[in-house]
Amino acid sequence: MSSSRPVDPQTSASPVVDTRDRQLRDLRISVTDRCNFRCVYCMPKEVFGKDFTFMERDELLTFEEITRLAGIAVAHGVEKIRLTGGEPLLRKGLEDLVGMLTALRTPAGAQIDVALTTNGSALASKAASLKDAGLQRVTVSLDSLDDATFKAANDVDFPVSKVLHAIDVAHQIGLGPIKINMVVKRGQNDHDIVAMARHFKDTPHILRFIEYMDVGASNDWKMAEVVPSSEVISRIHAELPLEPVTANYPGETSSRWRYQDGTGEIGVISSVTQAFCHSCTRVRVSTEGKLYTCLFATEGHDLRAIMRGGCSDQQLSAAMAQLWAERTDNYSQRRSARTSELRATGKTKIEMSYIGG
Ligand code: GTP
Ligand code: 5AD
Ligand code: SF4
Ligand code: SF4
Repeated sequence: MSSSRPVDPQTSASPVVDTRDRQLRDLRISVTDRCNFRCVYCMPKEVFGKDFTFMERDELLTFEEITRLAGIAVAHGVEKIRLTGGEPLLRKGLEDLVGMLTALRTPAGAQIDVALTTNGSALASKAASLKDAGLQRVTVSLDSLDDATFKAANDVDFPVSKVLHAIDVAHQIGLGPIKINMVVKRGQNDHDIVAMARHFKDTPHILRFIEYMDVGASNDWKMAEVVPSSEVISRIHAELPLEPVTANYPGETSSRWRYQDGTGEIGVISSVTQAFCHSCTRVRVSTEGKLYTCLFATEGHDLRAIMRGGCSDQQLSAAMAQLWAERTDNYSQRRSARTSELRATGKTKIEMSYIGG
């Protein structure tokens, strides 16, 4: 492990490496903390009810501020940008931001991979304008094919048929390859694992099963409710034989599998049972401009204050490089120890709806 090194502002617009030799490559930007769903594992109604205070408009980073930050991150090696929320399609004029971000280029002149994670509720109506704005692909969250199970998960009575329709529309418009994210929670939707696999098997979409995680402090997470990815794979393999596939790129969150009959691919994201912190290249920016170096962080770094204080690009660039260079995070690899440490200090982890996954 190398130690943290000071960053020279003169040379800071270059790739940055953290204290565990991980390079910054992905930027995940949350564009709103609001969502029209109340998924029980993310925004339970008891916490995110009528009295919950969401951010005011003037607190949010403007599209210009987001693009300024993103441009600096790209100069430091970011090649992928993912827009998240809450539900990102609730942010007014998101297409304009997509257009601004897709115009960015790496120092070598290459395009940036710009993607979006959505619950699909507004995707059918927005897919065409997002595509026109330059968006390359979408990832759609879908926890079940069974209407009652899906409605119980989103907790706002949203029907599964509308999400399936949105996936079709997005596919026809060319926002692919589409990934479908299913968070598996034992006793809630794990009975639907094989049905989901079967449904997406002969489609070009890539279904990914995500281990239910202890993000934030609202979801009352219990290890007993996690279905290990090994179990997901063996349940599917018993009916639809699978074989492993090598990763698309180092540090991919998802382990890939394909059907032995050649009809498509699935993935498992095993942050609980097989942590992938050793190759974590992701930085996250919250809706109001705080930079987080881990999904399980308790504190962010206020880049909005720096920007609104009138800093130069060079100062902003140096601040970002320094934050990455000092990064030590590896929460998932030290889950139990970190949980005890956090309990002892009374610190609270940020919520998934706030930082976007
Ligand atoms: P692509 O490879 O670009 O498609 O993106 P991805 O694999 O990062 O997928 P996506 O952004 O859809 O992330 C899928 C899920 O993986 C998220 O919703 C999180 O639940 C989980 N995840 C993503 N990044 C991290 C991470 O850094 N740490 C942990 N613990 N989980 C993550
Ligand atoms: N564990 C795992 N994944 C989660 N997501 C939200 N909360 C959790 C959690 N506790 C997923 C959503 C979506 C993405 C934004 O994060 O299903 O795919
Ligand atoms: Fe909304 Fe996504 Fe959280 Fe569900 S998981 S409440 S859709 S942000
Ligand atoms: Fe990266 Fe933190 Fe997730 Fe580990 S737990 S992979 S360090 S975001």
